[in-house]
Amino acid sequence: MIRIRDLSYVYPNSEEPAIAGINADFPRDRVFAVLGESGSGKTTLLNCIARFLTPSSGTITIDDQDIADLPEPKLRRALGVVFQKLYLFPHLTVHENMILAPVKAFGQTRNEAGRIAAEMLARLGIGDLGDRYPSEISGGQGQRVAIARGLMLQPQYMLLDEPTSALDARTTGEFARWLSELQSDTSFIIVTHDLPFAADVASRGVFLKAGRLKATGSVETIIQEATQNA
Ligand SMILES: Nc1ncnc2c1ncn2[C@@H]1O[C@H](COP(=O)(O)OP(=O)(O)O)[C@@H](O)[C@H]1O
Ligand SMILES: [Mg+2]
Repeated sequence: MIRIRDLSYVYPNSEEPAIAGINADFPRDRVFAVLGESGSGKTTLLNCIARFLTPSSGTITIDDQDIADLPEPKLRRALGVVFQKLYLFPHLTVHENMILAPVKAFGQTRNEAGRIAAEMLARLGIGDLGDRYPSEISGGQGQRVAIARGLMLQPQYMLLDEPTSALDARTTGEFARWLSELQSDTSFIIVTHDLPFAADVASRGVFLKAGRLKATGSVETIIQEATQNA
């Protein structure tokens, strides 16, 4: 469980907090949704959870451990992140992108990491993409590759920021199906403004508005309330 208590963040160049007074529990659901329209503070919250931003106040714990105290390798094993820009290395093939962190940062051999990468790509139904460069795959394939790369470290949680932002309606549907069928022990936390997509992939979530947590619970109920109050 990720537990967020009294969390606020104020950007250094800003007077208004981007998020304020957030209290939430993210359970180990298969997929948990963080919803809210553009500018509501979703990415700021994600960056605090991933420790890319240091909260102005409040705490975040993963399984009762304060993330502020976790050593970097331990945190990165507990929590993977796929950003809106996927940050695949353009000069490396998909396969090479996948083995980079396990080899460089976690000391796996190239052989070992290579075997796991090939298995992972096959298991995720993208085994044919290993030798391609990022410029040679579509947006939907790139999203899957970035997730596959993150899963190499078998994190407990993976945070995805707006995974459908570069996808059209048809590819979004395909991606939703793919994500729902994906075999993995990792819990996905999906940050999105795309309510129909969220309803497709997640049963529970939270809803942010203007930096405040407005609702928590079933995604269906959240969407009903959000559209009634719009
Ligand atoms: N680097 C930044 N510096 C100052 N303000 C920012 C920065 N990034 C985001 N904000 C502001 O914080 C608020 C929340 O932004 P963000 O977390 O990106 O929302 P969302 O991801 O829901 O679109 C917005 O008002 C945005 O303008
Ligand atoms: Mg965002």
